Amino acid sequence: MTQATATQQGMLFGEIAVREGLTAGESVQACLEIQQKLRSFGVVPKRIGEIMIEKGYLDQNGVNRILEVQQHRQQTLAIPGYEIQELIGKGGMGGQVYKARQVSLDRIVALKVLPPRYAKDRTFRERFISEARAVARLNHENIIAGIDVGEVNGYCYFVMEYVEGDTVAELVEARGAIEEKRALRITLQVAAALTHAAKHGLVHRDVKPQNILVANHDIAKLCDLGLAKVAEGDDGEADRKGIPIGTPHYISPEQARGESDVDIRSDIYSLGATVYHMLTGETPFVGSSPMVLMTKHLTEDPEPPKRRNPKVSRASSDLVLYLMEKRREDRPQSPEELTDEIERALDGKRPAGAPKRGGGGGGGSGREARTSGANARRREKPSASLSAYIDPEAQERRERARRIRAVRIRGAKQTESVSLAVAIFGAVAVLIIIIVAVIFRPEIKPGAPPQDEERAVLLLKKAAGHKGRGEYDEARREYENVIRLAPSSQWARIAESHLADMGSAGGS
Ligand SMILES: Nc1ncnc2c1ncn2[C@@H]1O[C@H](COP(=O)(O)OP(=O)(O)OP(=O)(O)O)[C@@H](O)[C@H]1O
Ligand SMILES: [Mg+2]
Repeated sequence: MTQATATQQGMLFGEIAVREGLTAGESVQACLEIQQKLRSFGVVPKRIGEIMIEKGYLDQNGVNRILEVQQHRQQTLAIPGYEIQELIGKGGMGGQVYKARQVSLDRIVALKVLPPRYAKDRTFRERFISEARAVARLNHENIIAGIDVGEVNGYCYFVMEYVEGDTVAELVEARGAIEEKRALRITLQVAAALTHAAKHGLVHRDVKPQNILVANHDIAKLCDLGLAKVAEGDDGEADRKGIPIGTPHYISPEQARGESDVDIRSDIYSLGATVYHMLTGETPFVGSSPMVLMTKHLTEDPEPPKRRNPKVSRASSDLVLYLMEKRREDRPQSPEELTDEIERALDGKRPAGAPKRGGGGGGGSGREARTSGANARRREKPSASLSAYIDPEAQERRERARRIRAVRIRGAKQTESVSLAVAIFGAVAVLIIIIVAVIFRPEIKPGAPPQDEERAVLLLKKAAGHKGRGEYDEARREYENVIRLAPSSQWARIAESHLADMGSAGGS
């Protein structure tokens, strides 16, 4: 066993120990360091399990349990031609990504294994394989290369180039907002990846910080191309069995509506939301559930990034808003246009294709003025199919937690909510009264005494009665009285319209 493999086995052991709740990550780390030190003195170290028992971090039962899990994992995940080394990540689709060795070429690869529920569906398996083949045909520096795909023991797996580095999500999590020029250079590389994918007819559908790996020398690599499409049904909607398509923090409005004909402009929106996150360290919207988030992508304008982080230039702030336009017709229309606009931002120039935004350092006034008109009319409701995007199990867990919280705070909040309800009811009632008063405010002719107004209303009622009974002459007379009593008022206009309406009815 090589030294590297021994270390990886130790890490795998430790990962299971932590995952099974048998010990803490720090204890594993301490034992791995002891092993490392012994090796550096040229001593063949004890197995990590033995060290952990000696240090009192584990007992024999714990070690047995870990070995059992390890064995089970190797059996279930025995993928011919690959040696699994360690778990490197777990994603929203419920898949796990392992570092593995491709035996035939003796090289390290990343192996994504999807949960068994995917492999059960024949249509899914076929789509998964055909999409992976399409991705494997691509050859671009900024796209993670696909190597192999298959299905074994009820698991679908996808083998890809292994990239040493951090995802954009990890970078932001570790150090907050990414410096603007660096963020733009990463974005430019993702745009190059999208351009290449688009030339081959591929749309990503799940561009997000978790799917952009940043390798050495800041080379950005786009991951999971095509996988989101497979996770969705043929009609573009999330699988009816409730397979989630990942976080909706970056979802385009058209995807949130469940539209099937999403194109590169949807990726451009998601990239905009990703750049937003890079520049501000925050997602454009926050929400307590995927549904709330998707509704916000459909209906709310994001706050200009410059307002959240004043270090962001006006050019970049406007670029993000341009990419995140609600209507795809209002965004850059192609990856080439997208690239041009990012290059402009790198030069400190505001987007050429974006709608004019007003002045002001916050980059918001013009936008606000504009969105209060056209965009406000575009605000829409999410489709009923959105609920399919939500993992039913996660939803159930959330719902349970919500109920428990609700019971706990109900007592304390009851009085508060009753008074709040009364206050809201009162405010609404006052508002209605004001609106009614304004709408029905009689247009009083200057100088017309209020009693004449009142009488005019009574006469209108009387006239309506006559008209209803077919007594047209009487009705006509009363309408004329109204006009005489309150000329130029709205009552007079009503009377005139009735007179016109009656025309020659009744013979006169
Ligand atoms: N090719 C790769 N090389 C190295 N690490 C990778 C590679 N692909 C994925 N990873 C790591 O695995 C983690 C999980 O990836 P995965 O794609 O499963 O999750 P995700 O993107 O967060 O969610 P989703 O399931 O929605 O794609 C990533 O965050 C990244 O750290
Ligand atoms: Mg991913």
